[in-house]
Amino acid sequence: MVAYSTDDAGIPAPHDGLSQSVGPNGPLLLQDHFLIQKMAHFNRERVPERVVHAKGGGAFGELEITEDVSQYTRADLFQKGKKTPLLIRFSTVAGELGSADTARDPRGFALKFYTEQGNYDIVGNNTPIFFIRDPSKFSDFIHSQKRRADNQLRDNNMQWDFWTLNPETAHQVSFLMTDRGTPKTWRHMHGYGSHTFLWYNAKGEKYWVKYHFKTDQGVENLTAAEAKAMEAEDPDAHRRDLWESIKRGDYPSWTVKVQIMPFEEAADYRFNPFDLTKVWPHGDYPEITIGRFVLNRNPENYFAQIEQAAFEPSNLVPGVGASPDKMLQGRLFSYPDTHRYRIGPNYLQLPVNRPKSPVRSYNYDGPMAYYNNPDPVYAPNTAGGPVAQPDLFKGEEYHVAGEIIRSAYTLHKEDDDFGQARTLWEKVLSDTDRAHMVSNIVGHASAPEVTSDMKKRIVEYWTNVHPDLGSGVAQGLGVES
Ligand code: NDP
Ligand code: HEM
Repeated sequence: MVAYSTDDAGIPAPHDGLSQSVGPNGPLLLQDHFLIQKMAHFNRERVPERVVHAKGGGAFGELEITEDVSQYTRADLFQKGKKTPLLIRFSTVAGELGSADTARDPRGFALKFYTEQGNYDIVGNNTPIFFIRDPSKFSDFIHSQKRRADNQLRDNNMQWDFWTLNPETAHQVSFLMTDRGTPKTWRHMHGYGSHTFLWYNAKGEKYWVKYHFKTDQGVENLTAAEAKAMEAEDPDAHRRDLWESIKRGDYPSWTVKVQIMPFEEAADYRFNPFDLTKVWPHGDYPEITIGRFVLNRNPENYFAQIEQAAFEPSNLVPGVGASPDKMLQGRLFSYPDTHRYRIGPNYLQLPVNRPKSPVRSYNYDGPMAYYNNPDPVYAPNTAGGPVAQPDLFKGEEYHVAGEIIRSAYTLHKEDDDFGQARTLWEKVLSDTDRAHMVSNIVGHASAPEVTSDMKKRIVEYWTNVHPDLGSGVAQGLGVES
C-alpha cells in the first residue's frame, strides 16, 4: 500500500517536487504554504551544537545488576537482578560536529539510566580523572583547547600554555599522551564516572563510591600514526564502528565495577578523595563487580535521540548523592543550564530525555510544553495532588561547616600534582607504552606554533612527572634538559 506524504499539519502534500507558480514560467506564490513550510523548517533544522563534546554517537542498551550491593545503596537500579534500560553517548571533547573521531582527546562516556525512580545520568569520560579540580577553570581550559580568536585555528602552543601553567593537569595529560588518548573504537575503551559520589543504603548509612565500566571487548588503541591516517580515511570511524557492530548483532558490553570507601575514611585518606585529578589506587579500594551493561539497539533517528539527548550529572536518584568534589558541584549547575539554552526549557519532555517512570512535577508550561498538566498546579494543596517522599533521601545529609573562602583543597598526606602521574609512568606503563607516550608528546609539541620557550616549559613539566620522561621529551624536542 502506498503511504501518502503530508505537510507537518498532516495535510496531504500536493506535490513532492513542484512549487506553485503563475504559469509554468511565472513567479512563485506566497500562498504556497507547502513550499514556505518546507523552506522555513529547513532553516531551523539545527540546534546549536554542544559547546564541548559536539561530535559523538550513541546507542541504547540495558544494565543488569548481578551482585547484592543493597548494604551500600538503596538505589532501585542497583538492586540485584534489576534490569534497567539505558542510553549511552560517546564523544570527543574539543572538535566540532564534523570533526574526526580518532583525534587525540578524552572520550565522553555519558550514560542515562531510565530507572523506575526517574533518570539517573552518569556523565563520565574514558579516563578516571580530569585536567583541573576547580570548575572556575573549566571555560579557560576549554578555550585553550579549542580555537584562537584571531584565525580560528587550534593552537598547540595555547594548549601547552594552559597545561604547563596548571600543573594539576599532569595526570590527565599523561593519560591523554599514552595510546589510550587514541582508542581504536568506542567499544575498546573503559569508561569511568570519574567523580566521587555518595551512596546511602535504606538505613541511611553512607559510603563514597567511584564507578568503573570495564570494556568486555578488551582495551585496544591506535598509534598516533594510525589515528592520524584514520582522520583522513574515515572521520566517522568510531560512529560507524558502533553502528555496524550493533547492526550485525555484535553487541558491545562493559562490566560495571565500583570502588567503595566508608564515609568516615575520607577525612584521613592519603589523597583527597574528592580531587578529580586523582584516582583511588586499587590496592586501597579494590574494584567490586556489580553488573554489566550491553548496547543492543541503534537509534532510529540520530537527531531526535542522540543530538537532542540531554545528560546531566544532577540527575541523581534516591540512594545516590553528590560529593563535595568541586568539579561535580559545578557540573550540577552547568548541564541543565546548557540544555535549557541549547534545546529549550522543556528538554525533559522529549521522548529520549523523558523518564520512563511517571512524572508528577509542579513545573509546567513554557515553550513547547507537550504534556497536559492536571490540577492542582501548586504544592502543598488540599486537592489530592502528588506529595514528596523525604524518607527516600534519608542518608544524603552530612555535616559541613567552615569559613566562606576562595581556596585550594586542603592537602592530604600524599597530595601533589605529579605523584600519581609518576606512578602511571613507573608502575603501569610498559616500555612500549612509555616510548609511545614520549613520541606522542614530542609530536604534539613539535607543531610549528609551539615556541622554543614553551618547549622548555614542556620539558620542565614532564621532568616533574619523571626525569626519564623529561629527558626523553627534551631529546625529542631538541631542548637541553
Ligand atoms: P593498578 O596497577 O591497580 O591499576 C592500574 C590501572 O591503570 C588499571 O586500571 C589499568 O587499566 C590502567 N592502565 C593501564 N595502562 C594504562 C594507560 N596506558 N593509561 C592509563 N591507564 C592505564 O594501579 P593503581 O590503582 O595503584 O593505580 C596506579 C596508577 O594507575 C594511577 O596513579 C593511575 O595513573 C593509573 N590508573 C588507576 C586507576 C584507578 O582507578 N586506580 C584507573 C586507571 C588508571 P586496565 O584495567 O585496562 O588494566
Ligand atoms: C558535555 C560542561 C567537566 C564529561 C558538556 C557540556 C557542557 C559541559 C556545557 C555540553 C552539554 C550539552 O550541550 O549537552 C562541563 C563543565 C565541567 C565539565 C562546566 C567542569 C566544571 C566534565 C567532566 C567530565 C565531563 C569532569 C567527565 C568526567 C562530559 C561529557 C559530555 C559533556 C561526557 C557530553 C555529554 C553528551 O554526550 O551529551 N560538559 N563539563 N565534563 N561533558 Fe562536561
